[in-house]
Amino acid sequence: MLAIVPALLLTLAWSGMAARVLPIVGGIGAWEAVVRTGDVAIEAARTRPGTPEAAAALDAHAALLDASAVQARRTAFLGQRVVSAVLIVGLALLIVLGLVTSRVAGHLSRQLSRPLDELVGWTDRIARDAPLPSDAEVTVRGAPEFGVLREGMRRMATELEAGRRATVEAERLGAFRESARQVAHELKNPLTPIRYAVATLRRSATPEQREVIDILDAESARLDAMATSFAQFGRLPDAPSAPVDLAALVRAAARHTLPPEVTVRFEGPEALVIDGQHEALQRAIANLLLNATHATDGHGTVTIALTDTGAEVTIAVSDDGCGIPAAELPRIWEPYVTRRAGGTGLGLAIVKQTVLAHRGQVEATSCVGEGTTITLRLPRRAE
Ligand SMILES: Nc1ncnc2c1ncn2[C@@H]1O[C@H](COP(=O)(O)OP(=O)(O)O)[C@@H](O)[C@H]1O
Ligand SMILES: [Mg+2]
Repeated sequence: MLAIVPALLLTLAWSGMAARVLPIVGGIGAWEAVVRTGDVAIEAARTRPGTPEAAAALDAHAALLDASAVQARRTAFLGQRVVSAVLIVGLALLIVLGLVTSRVAGHLSRQLSRPLDELVGWTDRIARDAPLPSDAEVTVRGAPEFGVLREGMRRMATELEAGRRATVEAERLGAFRESARQVAHELKNPLTPIRYAVATLRRSATPEQREVIDILDAESARLDAMATSFAQFGRLPDAPSAPVDLAALVRAAARHTLPPEVTVRFEGPEALVIDGQHEALQRAIANLLLNATHATDGHGTVTIALTDTGAEVTIAVSDDGCGIPAAELPRIWEPYVTRRAGGTGLGLAIVKQTVLAHRGQVEATSCVGEGTTITLRLPRRAE
């Protein structure tokens, strides 16, 4: 409408103006007057007999005057018809053009509105947490910009989903930690006097009583260790970062944790300093070494490999123990997941918590009957 209405008005104005102006500027009026006075003059001249040359000249002039008048009338007639014809053809062209443009405009608007409608549906799906249709399922593609928009929305949906999952995971871990803190507290309170009482009893015990006291001692020590695990899991590592030599740390952890029957191999540099929390990292490595000891029944080989890739360092603890079935591998990091009698399932949860607190990542690969490798990736700098 924006193009056609002005074009229509212009055509009408132009043809109206041409119809009015052409007769004014055209020569037909002048010719009619010349013909009228010429006819009168010729008639007057003919009433007087003259020479034959004069009569012939008069006839020639009369014929020329008639021919010129006919010519002028034709031109005037054609001039008027041309204006009307141009007007009609112009109007017809405008109607055809109007139809074509409206179809094109309709097509273009559908090209915009349908993909837009679809994308509005997508936002609805994202809000309901429903999966977005795959690329093959998109029926109305629209302009290429919509492809970019769809790609962006897909990326956004993936990120939202990851964020949502991370939030749920963080809430779940937070709840686990809170319960672990409470259990640790409830266990620790009575355990201290119990262990003190056992030690006192042992001093005055007869040999028969000693056997019972040994059981009391071992079991209360086990409860004590369990309470320590719960307490460690319940508290996020929050000490300030300081330079830590990982090579020295893993050697010390291996010395304190691994029984002498386990063969231990070290690979990597002699010193590897990162920014981190010494105590928490040492506890994490000790937990990995304890798991490796359990997996090899205390008689296997444990390899601790350190690698330095510049911005990141990795600690890989491998054993040749029983391995972990593939179906269980993804769950080993969760708190309270254990396949070991007397296990708390907190060891690897504490390891993961420590590594995440260092902004690192954990990985596990395992093959049943061949062994397990647990890899910790830590950034070299804390911040
Ligand atoms: N090196 C390993 N080899 C085989 N299994 C392992 C190893 N490390 C961990 N696991 C499996 O993962 C489970 C969880 O380990 P963890 O969190 O340390 O808890 P826990 O040692 O108390 O069971 C263990 O029960 C064990 O089944
Ligand atoms: Mg463990």
